[in-house]
Amino acid sequence: MGYFGKLRLGVNIDHVATVRNARGSAYPDPIRAALMAEEAGADGITAHLREDRRHISDEDINRLVETLSVPLNFEMAATDEMQKIALRHKPHAVCIVPEKREERTTEGGLDVVQDDNRLAHFIAPLREAGSRVSIFIAADQRQIDAAKRIGAQVIELHAGAYCDLHAEGRLEESDAELERLREMSSYAHSLGLEVHVGHGLTYKTVKPVAAFPEVMELNIGHFLIGEAIFLGLQPAISEMRRLMDEARGLL
Ligand code: PXP
Repeated sequence: MGYFGKLRLGVNIDHVATVRNARGSAYPDPIRAALMAEEAGADGITAHLREDRRHISDEDINRLVETLSVPLNFEMAATDEMQKIALRHKPHAVCIVPEKREERTTEGGLDVVQDDNRLAHFIAPLREAGSRVSIFIAADQRQIDAAKRIGAQVIELHAGAYCDLHAEGRLEESDAELERLREMSSYAHSLGLEVHVGHGLTYKTVKPVAAFPEVMELNIGHFLIGEAIFLGLQPAISEMRRLMDEARGLL
């Protein structure tokens, strides 16, 4: 089959920190989870340092940068504070995500069309520092065109609508969203953008997306951390890896 590269799994560890912060204790430690995820076959670790620090902390990011042997994908809002932090750490990848309602499209991705000039200036120094810049957007041609125009190297397509509709049993609508993701993955790839997909993926929704030949990375967090309660973190990740490999025709 004509795949355009290995499908990488980025494990998002934010919600290990959510559980830790619920008690203000030191455990569970998201860095321990990141190291276990590496052992279980994660190709990268994703962490979102939110402006309100509701889960991942600045110290978590320091420790991840020091400890990880796989690439760190640093998710952040397009703010001056986050830009300074990213320029200090120079992570392998930076993914720009919306945090405030007015920064979002109706589908929940970043509204690049409305804010293209500012975002172009915002990402330029991150690229110059050597980070690969990804923009989290809806599967919408205008947003993809805008991401290309501002100089992003990667887009991450928002899978939330597809996954939510699937979970509600609205299968015709979720199939339509899946089709949109498929078409827009192909369109973005034709423009020379690397395509990632994330948000809301589960064992039930991952395979059709993993089978898109143009997609090179999936970022998955909440479901895996939840499933870890029942299976343990490493078996939960290994099962996701297996489903992705199966969808890719590798098993
Ligand atoms: N990709 C991006 C850009 C995200 O912001 C998130 C977290 O919302 C994810 C992927 C992971 O989503 P989830 O935790 O639902 O798997």
